[in-house]
Amino acid sequence: MLAGLDEIRDLGADPVRGGYSRHLWSTAELGLREWFVERATRLGLGIDRDRNGNLWAWWGEPGADAVVTGSHLDSVPGGGAYDGPLGVVSALDAVARLKARGFTPHRPFAVIVFAEEEGSRFGVACLGSRLMVGSLDPAVAGALRDRDGVTLADAARYAGEDPELFGPDPAALGRIGLFIELHVEQGRGLVDLGSAVGVASGILAHGRWRLSFEGEGNHAGATPMIGRRDPMVAAAAAILAVREAALARPGTRATVGRLEAVPGGTNVIPSRVQLWLDARAETDAEAHELVATIAARASASAFVEESWSSSVEFDASLRDRFAAGLGGVPVLSTGAGHDAGVLAAHVPSAMLFVRNPSGVSHAPGEFAELADCVAGTDALESLLVSVL
Ligand code: GLV
Ligand code: MN
Ligand code: MN
Ligand code: MN
Repeated sequence: MLAGLDEIRDLGADPVRGGYSRHLWSTAELGLREWFVERATRLGLGIDRDRNGNLWAWWGEPGADAVVTGSHLDSVPGGGAYDGPLGVVSALDAVARLKARGFTPHRPFAVIVFAEEEGSRFGVACLGSRLMVGSLDPAVAGALRDRDGVTLADAARYAGEDPELFGPDPAALGRIGLFIELHVEQGRGLVDLGSAVGVASGILAHGRWRLSFEGEGNHAGATPMIGRRDPMVAAAAAILAVREAALARPGTRATVGRLEAVPGGTNVIPSRVQLWLDARAETDAEAHELVATIAARASASAFVEESWSSSVEFDASLRDRFAAGLGGVPVLSTGAGHDAGVLAAHVPSAMLFVRNPSGVSHAPGEFAELADCVAGTDALESLLVSVL
């Protein structure tokens, strides 16, 4: 059980930040894909690569009205071991158990690995699922650049993908009859409720914006304090405004987790500063109001939306049926984004959460007890049996 987590323990371990940095099509992420293909093949699953960098492993022939389960293998910079991989490993373990007990699915079934769920390399979260459902323009996607200036199209070619094929994939989407994503919980909801496993009700509205501040680059020692045009000062004021705006709207969340000074020298007044805002709220309207407040207070020369996701309500009948089928486990919402949220607008989708004792995620301290991970796989297996 969950030997897969052990097998990938060293892939993308980040000695500088701690935790894991497994960015799309990096050596680490390609290694994880190889591991997935090898593991799935050993289970007798057939590998299929779609047009948008997502990996599928089919039990039998691909077909319509399929049950699909899985998650992602990429991570945030310095992320935890569970966000993404737990859903993939549990799916493969569920397949192994079903095969061991001689179970035969009565409808097509696949395990999926989505590309660039975190958006850590190219800035847009859930890139693979968004391209598939057609909510992201493939021309826009192809031109996205990573921190080194490499375009997504060039990175795709380097990884052996064909960016000319990126775009809406009604054939792939049309095969999904039902999607289930198992995920480590990214909060302490299940700890407080005393349950190893829960079912998702919904996801907050969330988006990402890039703010630019322009100034005049100059010498840190030779330039008097009076008369400087230092964009870092404006950026700092904007960061405080971000915090204040979110505090003034209970339930909303706003974060600046990334900041770049150009050129980035200790003894250089920057000529430009960019920062990235992550803002979330219960409703789309609240999230937009929050961001409008921030935009009005931050004296940014550019305020650009890089990624947007409306709030999600998971399929109510599936949610209730799954929660009841698991003996009445808690139903709870999350502030974290997921490919299941992107798919939910198109196909019945559900999520299972596994308790996280610290509640920490997107950081090395993310954790789940083995017994809870096993309980999660038990739950996934029983839900699969009920729909297959
Ligand atoms: C992705 O995990 C996100 O919620 O940002
Ligand atoms: Mn994540
Ligand atoms: Mn995730
Ligand atoms: Mn996520």
